[in-house]
Amino acid sequence: MSKQFDVVVIGGGPGGYIAAIRAAQLGFNVACIDEWKNAAGGPAPGGTCTNVGCIPSKALLQSSEHFNHANHHFAEHGIEVKGVSMDVAKMLARKNNVVKQNNEGILYLLKKNKVAFFHGRGSFVKAGDAGYEIQVAGAADEVITGKQIIIATGSNARALAGAPFDEVNILSNDGALNIGAVPKKLGLIGSGVIGLEMGSVWKRLGAEVTILEGLPVFLGAVDEGVAKEALKAFTKQGLKIELGVKVGEIKNSKKGVSVAYTNAKGEAQSLDVDKLIISIGRVPNTIGLNAEAVGLALDERGAIVVDADCKTNLPGVWAVGDVVRGPMLAHKAEEEGVAVAERIAGQHGHVNFNTIPWVIYTSPEIAWVGRNEQQLKADGVAYKAGQFPFLANGRARALGDTTGFVKFLADATTDEILGVHIVGPQASELISEAVVAMEFKASAEDIARICHAHPSLSEATKEAALAVDKRTLNF
Ligand code: FAD
Ligand code: NAI
Repeated sequence: MSKQFDVVVIGGGPGGYIAAIRAAQLGFNVACIDEWKNAAGGPAPGGTCTNVGCIPSKALLQSSEHFNHANHHFAEHGIEVKGVSMDVAKMLARKNNVVKQNNEGILYLLKKNKVAFFHGRGSFVKAGDAGYEIQVAGAADEVITGKQIIIATGSNARALAGAPFDEVNILSNDGALNIGAVPKKLGLIGSGVIGLEMGSVWKRLGAEVTILEGLPVFLGAVDEGVAKEALKAFTKQGLKIELGVKVGEIKNSKKGVSVAYTNAKGEAQSLDVDKLIISIGRVPNTIGLNAEAVGLALDERGAIVVDADCKTNLPGVWAVGDVVRGPMLAHKAEEEGVAVAERIAGQHGHVNFNTIPWVIYTSPEIAWVGRNEQQLKADGVAYKAGQFPFLANGRARALGDTTGFVKFLADATTDEILGVHIVGPQASELISEAVVAMEFKASAEDIARICHAHPSLSEATKEAALAVDKRTLNF
């Protein structure tokens, strides 16, 4: 007889492993299946996020930022460094070690919470009387049964027609995180989150970087004022970003990659690079799940169809994270995982989509929560805006990083905060205050009246809140 579980989670990324832990905390007998392999063929749970996403990208952003500081900013502090060089192999080894520590941390957490971990691919066999039968194909082939199934199989990089990833010259996020030597010329297609983060890494290390973007606007989903400020900063750093292009034929040879495209004026151009990263979005992953066997419904994009509670069309089958609708973010996947485990336990797990923060870990960092000015205008909402520049913040001056600003958008009548948009130092950390404020339906005045430590970047947040009422103290 197959092993029986209350809950079987397929996928051990941030959506899956967190769902498994929460379900175990709630007293269920839980299994988590994940197929990711480390270099030695062993288990490497944590999904895209841990292995080829959030964690390794931030490790490389940190290393390249240090290199950039040593080369360009230490001198301002009177620190003289000579002969700075980059050992790319060492940087990648450090990044791999950071990933390994996270993989091991997740295995430890699963064990601590008594979640049975299965290393292999999980696929539906059939719905039986005791629940859904799931085949695990991996080190040990076996069938396990779960009364409730949580699918968290994530997403894969979207390829460009005619330019398959070879991970040597034409790279997905995977290859982009493993370039063995700084390329002289690096091209990227897509100036979204990956394009900007990966473009920044290799630019800081010395590559000549060109990003080709199909849309005529830069970072269309971001507040226009923030996007404008960020574009100015990136251009100053030497990132070449061409908007409104139409990419044509891509030729991949031993010498490198040649991209034919038309620019925004409709002129034929070509870009010759040593490496090309394709970062044009990601597609939900249901490969190998054998969804057909049980009639699991997918939409036209290949995402698993779910309702607001992450219920699929099948009783007792749930899906969370990148494989379903909504933003492809690790923390969104985690929140859904927790909410589903709690719903299975009869609780009222909830994910507030209005307060999911976004962060782009470039320099300056970009972070936001809630609606931006374009959206408020489109929605016909009367709002007040308050903005405060880091240039007028003492801590930012001491840090030597005064790019950007904090912007508050509040309801014109009630003063409720509708959105907060930050471009500048530590935006990733500063945005948390705004998320908390919006969760508690705070007004801009609430933030303006709260004592913020001096000197700190968070004072720019307080001042931006004061600016909503046109009463900044330091600007
Ligand atoms: P995944 O993390 O993709 O995990 C799915 C897991 O399921 C994988 O381990 C996969 O091997 C496994 N799996 C799939 N099918 C099966 C099967 N049939 N059987 C067994 N196992 C299976 N998000 C952020 O919030 N912040 C960031 O800074 C950030 N940076 C990113 C940087 C890059 C370069 C990329 C590519 C993404 C980044 N993301 C970031 C997005 C983030 O990685 C995803 O949103 C997140 O990983 C989604 O989690 P998930 O659990 O839904 O899926
Ligand atoms: P993205 O959706 O952020 O950006 C893709 C960009 O490519 C868009 O600007 C789009 O207009 C452009 N594009 C699409 N097709 C094109 C074409 N044929 N030619 C030229 N341009 C084209 O997707 P990206 O950067 O691949 O990242 C995928 C997802 O991973 C992100 O949306 C995000 O959810 C997640 N991620 C999150 C990070 C974070 O939270 N810091 C970091 C990296 C990724």
